[in-house]
Amino acid sequence: MNQELTGPYAELLQQAAGVFEGERDPWANSANAAALVWERLPDLNWAGFYFLRGGELIVGPFQGRIACVRIPLGEGVCGTAASRRDTVIVPDVHRFPGHITCDAASSSEIVVPLLAAGRLVGVLDLDSPSLGRFGPDDARGLEALATRLAAACDWRLAGIDGFGSG
Ligand code: SME
Repeated sequence: MNQELTGPYAELLQQAAGVFEGERDPWANSANAAALVWERLPDLNWAGFYFLRGGELIVGPFQGRIACVRIPLGEGVCGTAASRRDTVIVPDVHRFPGHITCDAASSSEIVVPLLAAGRLVGVLDLDSPSLGRFGPDDARGLEALATRLAAACDWRLAGIDGFGSG
């Protein structure tokens, strides 16, 4: 899988595998994943997670400025990606109807759903101050990271909807 990844993603994925090894805690692994993305990818102003808890998306570990805490499914870029269970790339957030502004510096955004055993766990969200920052290579790389993170965690430990408690 890693061979198909371009730019910084092959190395990022390799590093993520090492960081997740032997650790099943969702908060620990997602916090390190956000830090890894923030450290490895240029031109970001926010990188982190929203998790599906109590029927809505609630902010999780992230890097960047203070963010909106709760996002209803179907709203904003995050809620749209979560509802569709598909990656959403927004080249210009000012042209996305319903975009939720957390930081006025954001110009473009990518949101990748996090699916474990086919069920929605949350989303990985990246914002950039540059227009058109994210493309298909980013989608591929971040989807690979989301897949790896989803498999690395025991989601029962995080109170995610539909996963019960461990
Ligand atoms: N812009 C997102 C909200 C989350 S922040 O970007 C961190 C949205 O429209 O869902």
